[in-house]
Amino acid sequence: MRMYDIIAKKRDRQALTKEEIDFFINGYTNGEIPDYQASAFCMAIFFQDMTEEERAHLTMAMVNSGDTIDLSSIEGVKVDKHSTGGVGDTTTLILAPLVASLDVPVAKMSGRGLGHTGGTIDKLEAVEGFHVELDKNQFIDLVNKNKISVIGQSGNLTPADKKLYSLRDVTATVNSIPLIASSIMSKKIAAGADAIVLDVKTGAGAFMKEEEEAKELAKAMVSIGNRVGRKTMAVISDMSQPLGRAIGNALEVEEAIETLQGKGPEDLTELCLILGSQMVVLAKKANTLEEAREKLIENMHNGKALDKFRTFLKSQGGNEKVVDNPKLMPQATYSFDLPAKTEGYVSEMVADEIGHAAMMLGAGRATKESQIDLGVGIVLNKKVGDHVKQGESLLTIHANSSDVEEIKEKLYKNITLVDNEVVAPTLIYGVVTQ
Ligand code: URA
Ligand code: CA
Repeated sequence: MRMYDIIAKKRDRQALTKEEIDFFINGYTNGEIPDYQASAFCMAIFFQDMTEEERAHLTMAMVNSGDTIDLSSIEGVKVDKHSTGGVGDTTTLILAPLVASLDVPVAKMSGRGLGHTGGTIDKLEAVEGFHVELDKNQFIDLVNKNKISVIGQSGNLTPADKKLYSLRDVTATVNSIPLIASSIMSKKIAAGADAIVLDVKTGAGAFMKEEEEAKELAKAMVSIGNRVGRKTMAVISDMSQPLGRAIGNALEVEEAIETLQGKGPEDLTELCLILGSQMVVLAKKANTLEEAREKLIENMHNGKALDKFRTFLKSQGGNEKVVDNPKLMPQATYSFDLPAKTEGYVSEMVADEIGHAAMMLGAGRATKESQIDLGVGIVLNKKVGDHVKQGESLLTIHANSSDVEEIKEKLYKNITLVDNEVVAPTLIYGVVTQ
C-alpha cells in the first residue's frame, strides 16, 4: 500500500477501505508517513468529504493509535457528556454530581486547555485541596463507591488525533466535518464511555457559528458513535450569549452550587435538565425523559444533588465547606459594575467577545504557559431579552487589577440595547438521535 495512492483516491472522491485508513493512521502516528502527505490527505478530505463508514473507520483507527480506558469494572452504563465548548459553560460541574445522585456512574476524564476560562479541572481546583492525581484503581473505586470521580487526562490517549489536530491547525483543515467529528469522538470512545451525550453549541461563542453546520456536526458524531457501538445522541444548544451568568473559575463553581440546589440561572438549569435527562435514560435509571427530569428536579430540591457534590469534593481532597460557603474559594480584590448607558432591552451579548474579556481578566489561558487567576471573571446581571434602566448594572467585573477601562470598553461594544422588546434566544435548536 502506498500513501500516494490513498491521497489520489480521496482526491478523486472515492471511498477508502478500513485497511487504507488504518494504513494512514498507523503510518502517520509512527512517523513513517510525513506531514506533507498527511496535509494533502486532510485537504483532500476537506474537499471530498467521507462516507459515514469511512468516518467510523477513521475514528476507530485513531482510538486504536494509543491507550484506551477500560471502565468495565465499574457497574452500570457509563455515560459521558461532551460539549463542543462555549462561554461560561458550567454544565459539567452541575451534571456530574446531579446525575450521579441518581446512581448514574460518572467516570470522567477531563482537561485544562486554552480558552475563556479554565477547563473543568481548573474550575474544580478553585476548591482548596481538590486534586485529580488519582491512579486508575482509586478512580474506579471512587466511581463504584460514590458514583462519581474526575481524573486528569492520561498521557497517551489518541496520539494520532493529537498529531493530526496540530497539523490541521496550520494547514487550514480544522474546519472539516468528518475530521472534527472523528477527532472529538475518538477521544470520547478512548475514554471508555458506553454511551455519549453531546452538547453541540451554535452561535457567536461556538466552534460552529451557524445552526446548519452545528446540526451537520451533531449528525456526523451521532452516526459515528452508534456505528461503533456506543449509544450516542446530541442536543444542539444556543451559544450566542454566554450560558448562565458566571464566567470564571471560582465564580462558575459558585454558580454550579446554586444550580444544584435549583436556584441557578434559568437557561443553565434548563440545559442541565435536558442533557441530564438524556444521560439518566441512557444509563437506564429512568424509562422516559419526563420521569428522568422529575427525578433530577427532585434531587435539586431535596439536597441529594448538592450532597453528591460535597462527597465528590471531599473524596478528592477538596474542602467541602465551600458548598455552604462559596466565598471560601479565591475571590477577586475588586468588583466593578457596568452600568447601562441608556434604558432599553438587551438584544445582544456577544458570547465570544465577552468570553475574551473574561480571559483578559485572567480567567482563562491565552497560551499553554498562562497562569489562571481562579477568582476573577464576569457575572452577567442581565441577559438577552431583559429590560434595563439607565444606570442599572448590566454585569459585574471581578478583577485583581483596578485598571479595567479597556475591558469595560470591550464589553460595552459587545452588548447592544434597543428600544423595542426583544425575545430571549431559543435555547435548544434540536435533538439528534440517529
Ligand atoms: N475539537 C476537537 O477536539 N477536534 C477538532 O477537530 C475540532 C475541535
Ligand atoms: Ca456560566
